[in-house]
Amino acid sequence: MTARRPDGRIVYVCGSTGSGKSEYVRRQLAGARRVLVWDIDDEYGHLPGFVRVADPADLVARLRRLTGPGRLAFVADDLRRFDWFSRVAFAWGQLAPCVAVAEEIADVTHPGKAPPGWGVLVRRGRKYGIVTYAVTQRPAEADKTALGNAAVIHVGWLADAADRATVARKLGVPVARLDALAPLDWLERDAAGRVTAGRLTFRTAAPAPGPKAPRRRPPPGSRASDPDRRAAAAASKPAPKPAPAAPAWTLDDL
Ligand SMILES: Nc1ncnc2c1ncn2[C@@H]1O[C@H](COP(=O)(O)OP(=O)(O)O)[C@@H](O)[C@H]1O
Ligand SMILES: [Mg+2]
Repeated sequence: MTARRPDGRIVYVCGSTGSGKSEYVRRQLAGARRVLVWDIDDEYGHLPGFVRVADPADLVARLRRLTGPGRLAFVADDLRRFDWFSRVAFAWGQLAPCVAVAEEIADVTHPGKAPPGWGVLVRRGRKYGIVTYAVTQRPAEADKTALGNAAVIHVGWLADAADRATVARKLGVPVARLDALAPLDWLERDAAGRVTAGRLTFRTAAPAPGPKAPRRRPPPGSRASDPDRRAAAAASKPAPKPAPAAPAWTLDDL
């Protein structure tokens, strides 16, 4: 019998630092069964249900065994791992639909051609029921494939005018609506094209500010050289469509 899968989607999440991107994504993950995060700032591993993994071989070994539910946060030591990570996420999504989260894609992609593995994940992942969250502070400087293919665009306060212009065009709203956002405000265009607005609120007090891990920058040349709760729940629902043809690679190849 042909396996049936739900539709995946791309959810594009952008906003300047502290605008609420990661908090938004974490809330969306509430119902998701299988989650893999490119967690460059080490913000997910401590969350309930997550395993933090830093070693690439360990990540692949765990994912090969993980055909059921599970949540992993991969904390890479090198930004050049991102394309490999994208292939791993795509391959894991072949085993069973999953949610892939890529934090801070402007560090590892640029507005030109998408890195090959990431390109496959964002162009073909949907067919395999993969829900991909593409998260960035700098939409004007990040890969446009994800933005162009996004079913949902969630935007918070953006400090940079070029970033606001880039996202306003895609949202189909006047840039003045983005200019007016304050930290923790958001606009969202859903899959049906409706734009809604809101503000992130918290039931508990703000966490004490703590030291943040230093960002790992790519070595020169490496980056540009070649180059909603609804969404998360969709990855765990029964599936309306047959799986498409076999993928280009499996976890055994990675
Ligand atoms: N329980 C809370 N109460 C109030 N503010 C919070 C709480 N948890 C997080 N925040 C704040 O919400 C903001 C958004 O955080 P985050 O989602 O990590 O931003 P981003 O990923 O866009 O950099 C931060 O300023 C953070 O300090
Ligand atoms: Mg964040």
